[in-house]
Amino acid sequence: MADTRPIGVFDSGIGGLTVLREIWKVLPGESTIYFGDNARAPYGNKSRSTVIRYSLQNMKFLESRGVKMIVIACNTASAYAYEALKDRSDVPVVEVVTPGAEATIKATKNGKIGIIGTKATISTGVYKQAVEQCALKHGMKNVEIYQKTCPLFVPLAEEGWWDNEIARLTAKEYLTPLKEAGIDTLVMACTHYPLLAKVIAETMGEGITLVNTGAAAASVVRDMLGKDGKTADGAVAPKREFYTSDEPGMFESVATPFLGEGLPSGTAHFSTDRYEVEI
Ligand code: DGL
Repeated sequence: MADTRPIGVFDSGIGGLTVLREIWKVLPGESTIYFGDNARAPYGNKSRSTVIRYSLQNMKFLESRGVKMIVIACNTASAYAYEALKDRSDVPVVEVVTPGAEATIKATKNGKIGIIGTKATISTGVYKQAVEQCALKHGMKNVEIYQKTCPLFVPLAEEGWWDNEIARLTAKEYLTPLKEAGIDTLVMACTHYPLLAKVIAETMGEGITLVNTGAAAASVVRDMLGKDGKTADGAVAPKREFYTSDEPGMFESVATPFLGEGLPSGTAHFSTDRYEVEI
């Protein structure tokens, strides 16, 4: 029987819309509820305990809306809080790290891999571990991993400066060491980086594969729902709802480029800090 409950997706703010759009691409018939925690963003420079608390509160909100699955669309929240959410959620939880690692190992030919993300994501070492584990699983012994924090890519993406001189100079400054290391695959381990993909690809030059962790996670969402027999099967017209913890107007004014299209419905305000959680 069709399961028409929505898929819940959350992020620190608008970046997770790059993941949501990938979910829509592979599952156009599914209803979705997106929560952007804009009032408390960014997560990328917050402590582990804070990101876990925020993520548990966001999970509670989505659960209260009757979702059938929760997608942690934020790389920082995935890196810090996945274990906590997985253990406490009533529904399956999908994060972006493991799918991103799988896609990376499939893509690399020379085993030299770059990972770029926020300070928080890189400091956890979670992506590095996930890529190493995946390599072992696929019998690949010699992987070399080079990590780099690229914090300025986040404000550049939000400013819409994706393809100008400042974006190019910033990319050159951050990515030159990875290029010199001879990597052939680069994991964009942050929701905002796919918007800068053109400049990142140009800076890295020929022969580089960029891994979009959101697209990888969307495939996992599709496969899990299919395997569990929980797809909506077009039984009803899908509903696409949006919530933000900041002002809806602010969310909507910056959302379109991240989503790749206009928001299909209005955005409502909701603060998840009302939920008491223990971490
Ligand atoms: N969504 C975050 C991530 O993917 C980037 C923005 C933030 O730091 O909150 O890591």
